[in-house]
Amino acid sequence: MRAVAVFPGPRQVRIVDHPEPKIESPTQAKIRMLNVGVCGTDREIVTFQYGAPPDGFDYLVIGHESLGEIIETGPGVSKVKRGDLVVATVRRPCPHPECIACRQGRQDFCYTGDFTERGIKQRHGYMTEFVVEEEQYLNVVPPELRDVAVMVEPLTIAEKGIAQLWDIQKRMPWWHPDPGKRPTELFYNAVVLGAGPVGLLGAMALTVAGFKVNVYSRTQSHEDKDDIVAAIGARFIAAETNTVEQMAKEVGRIDVVYEAVGASSLAFEVIKQLSPNAAFIFTGVPGRKAPIQVDTDYIMRNMVLNNQLIYGTVNAPPESFAAAIRDMQTFLQRWPDAVKRLITGRFSMDQAVDVLTGEQKGIKNIITIAS
Ligand code: BGC
Ligand code: ZN
Repeated sequence: MRAVAVFPGPRQVRIVDHPEPKIESPTQAKIRMLNVGVCGTDREIVTFQYGAPPDGFDYLVIGHESLGEIIETGPGVSKVKRGDLVVATVRRPCPHPECIACRQGRQDFCYTGDFTERGIKQRHGYMTEFVVEEEQYLNVVPPELRDVAVMVEPLTIAEKGIAQLWDIQKRMPWWHPDPGKRPTELFYNAVVLGAGPVGLLGAMALTVAGFKVNVYSRTQSHEDKDDIVAAIGARFIAAETNTVEQMAKEVGRIDVVYEAVGASSLAFEVIKQLSPNAAFIFTGVPGRKAPIQVDTDYIMRNMVLNNQLIYGTVNAPPESFAAAIRDMQTFLQRWPDAVKRLITGRFSMDQAVDVLTGEQKGIKNIITIAS
C-alpha cells in the first residue's frame, strides 16, 4: 500500500510502498485512513532534526492528525465497530516499569522520554492507506463531524491545556466545581498568541469555556483569520499595528494566555503583562535560535508578587480527545462556517510531498487519502 515517508539524513519525502498491516491481536482494529492533517511538527520533521523512524526501518511514515473508518475488528474489540469514524491518539507508553505516568496510560506525562509517537518518534504514522491499532488508542467520532474531525487532534492541545488550567485554579478559594457558578474573578480575559490552527482552535475552545477571547497575531487577511476570529465573537488585535503594551491595554486584565506561535521573544514580552493570579500556557515548540535578552528580574518579581503561573503542555490523553470531540460538535453548532473555513486546502496523497515541503499556505491543510 502507499504511504508518505520521510527518510532521515538529507531529509527526503516521498511515497513508498509500505507493507499493509494486519490485525495481530484480538484487541486491534483495522482502519481505512480518510484524512490526515499537516502541521508545524510535520514540517519540522521533513526539514529539521525532529522525529525518527521505527527500529528496522530507514524511513518514517509521517502523519499524526488522523481521521479513519474502521473496516475490520479483532474478536476482543468492544469499543469500536465496522463503519465507525475514529481519531487515533498519537503517543504510546515507554517500556519502563518505574514510569508511573505511562503505567497509568498517561504517557502524555511520561517521565523517561522513551515514549514513541505515531508519525513522529519511532512509530509509523497515519499518512497511508491502512492502519492497525489497539482499540484503546481509538476515539469514535460522530458522523456529523466527518468534514472537520481531522482537527480533533490539534484541538486536544487546547483541551489538555484548559483542563490543567481549571486544576490549577482550584487553588483559589472562590473556585466552584460548576462552570456556570464560577465567579468571573477566577478568570475572565484570555489572550491567544497566534492565529494558526492551534491558536484558532484554542480561541474557539476558550470561548466555549466561557472566556472573553482576544487573538493577538499578524494579519494575513487573504487567509481570513481575522474574519474567523470575529465570527466566534472574539477580538482580533493585529500585531503589526499594536505593540504588546498596546494589546495589553486594549484587553484590560490578562487572566490567561494561550501561546500558539512558538516564538519565545514575543511570549516573554507578553508574560510581563500578566495580571494577578494569571496563568500562561506554552504550547509552541520553538526552533533553537540565538539567545535573546529577557528582563528576568522584572518577570520573576512580577510572578512572585502576583501569584502567576507559567506551564507548558504537550500531547493529550484520551479524556482530552473526548473533550475535543464534544467541543468540535459545539463549534459546529455555534459557528459552522468558521470551523469549516479553518480547513483551507484539501490535497491528494500525490500532492502531500509538496504540501509538506513547500511554502506554508492557508490555515489547516489536509491530505485526503480516501473519501
Ligand atoms: C503533536 C503531539 C506531540 C508533539 C511532540 C505535536 O504536534 O500534536 O501529539 O506530542 O507534537 O512530538
Ligand atoms: Zn514513560
